[in-house]
Amino acid sequence: PLPRPYQVPLPVPPVLEPARSDGTSDSYEITQHQADLHILPGLRTRAWTYGGSFPGPTIVSRSGRRTVVRHRNELPQPVVVHLHGGHTPAASDGYPVDLVMPVSGGGDPMAGMDMPGMDGMPRMSGDIAHGERSYTYPVNQRAATLWYHDHRMGFTGPGVWKGLAGFHLVHDDEEDALPLPRGERDIPLMIADRSFAADGSFRYPAIDPAMHRAGVTDAYTNGVLGDVVLVNGAPWPVLQADRVRYRLRLLNASNARDYRLELSPQPPGGAAFVQIGGDGGLLARPVRHDALELSPAERLDVVVDFSRYRPGTKVRLINRFGSGPTSEVMRFDLSPSGRPPADDSHVPDQLSELAALDPGKAAVTRTFAFQQSEKGGWTINGELYQPGRTLARPKLGTTEVWRFVSDFHHPVHLHLEHFQVVSRNDADPGPYDAGWKDTVSLRPSEAVEVVTRFTDYPGKFMLHCHNLEHEDMAMMADFVTE
Ligand code: C2O
Ligand code: CU
Repeated sequence: PLPRPYQVPLPVPPVLEPARSDGTSDSYEITQHQADLHILPGLRTRAWTYGGSFPGPTIVSRSGRRTVVRHRNELPQPVVVHLHGGHTPAASDGYPVDLVMPVSGGGDPMAGMDMPGMDGMPRMSGDIAHGERSYTYPVNQRAATLWYHDHRMGFTGPGVWKGLAGFHLVHDDEEDALPLPRGERDIPLMIADRSFAADGSFRYPAIDPAMHRAGVTDAYTNGVLGDVVLVNGAPWPVLQADRVRYRLRLLNASNARDYRLELSPQPPGGAAFVQIGGDGGLLARPVRHDALELSPAERLDVVVDFSRYRPGTKVRLINRFGSGPTSEVMRFDLSPSGRPPADDSHVPDQLSELAALDPGKAAVTRTFAFQQSEKGGWTINGELYQPGRTLARPKLGTTEVWRFVSDFHHPVHLHLEHFQVVSRNDADPGPYDAGWKDTVSLRPSEAVEVVTRFTDYPGKFMLHCHNLEHEDMAMMADFVTE
């Protein structure tokens, strides 16, 4: 039986303190280990965690200051860490075979490195670390809501499902100068659906629960959906909120579920959400929405003005794409007091100077087709993923247009660079496409064009579907910048 919604308070993941700082950099240490969490009332859930919690601790970086995160792996299996949205050199980007082996040692690094179509293929070994690895992030990028998560070849779906995900926020002077809600009124919300067995354990339909072979059972090849919606790791939580403005940094960390979020009741006059940012930070100008669509890995940074509601209103965040339990997400219980505390925040009409990239200046236009393979698995341009096989070689310092086409829904994600959406089906971009993005929702029979500029770091990076089961079933490609 599912727990009842709106019984538990919203947790906010703690901010991680650096282990060391100097004039130019901050160093953090995270131990990945199993922990028994209390997610459902009266039950324990054995999770894979960053430092003992799900979500992991929030890392906060200052733009321009180097951030080094040393990950120690006390889990029973190899891991890989990727900073999603990071402008990161290849060696620290979390390439899926650059494994961090467990400290306990043992195990064949190549065990389980199978994806559909890889039978009999030569295994490509990555850069293997034993017990721990330091990831170095130059944070040569603007303020944005990033997140970090597991990225192990073939096993990203179960790794994230079991708890390997956390926020990594970047701040900068431009954003700090704006009068946006801050402090306790600036809240990251990680939305992720999960299923549980009767004993409280996470239920994931892996073909091989011992995780020696990648993949899910046939019924789940389109993606694994859960029936419990967690926000910051708690089922349908409640935030006791004041009738003031809040900044909500929404992240869809679900393996495969799409959301269409609305407030219920809607505030008088509509336009419940004022979007100020997306995956890659602030928009040029705010965009008003009645509803927010969020596919896996996307972020929407919004301001909600609860002073538009009467004292004591209980405002639900609901999911129009869900049904039954998955149509509820969380609730804001507004203070009954008639006099809200002071609020000097507001959303200015001008948020950021954003230079639009000119698709007319693109050196190349490349097309990537995202398709299901008849032989099982998911392909890009007809290829099942194989580490080391490169689908594109963009030149550093050049602009390119990438055209994504599909017959199914795929949230398409690019490592290294953010991009701007140029068009959908050769017409205007959609309502959630504004600003810099790193993941774009590609709907069935759609063609989405994005423009980006490749900069700074030569090496091997990933383009892939962020439906984690599609990703694990080979819908990934390497591109090499040079
Ligand atoms: Cu969030 Cu390559 O992933
Ligand atoms: Cu996909």
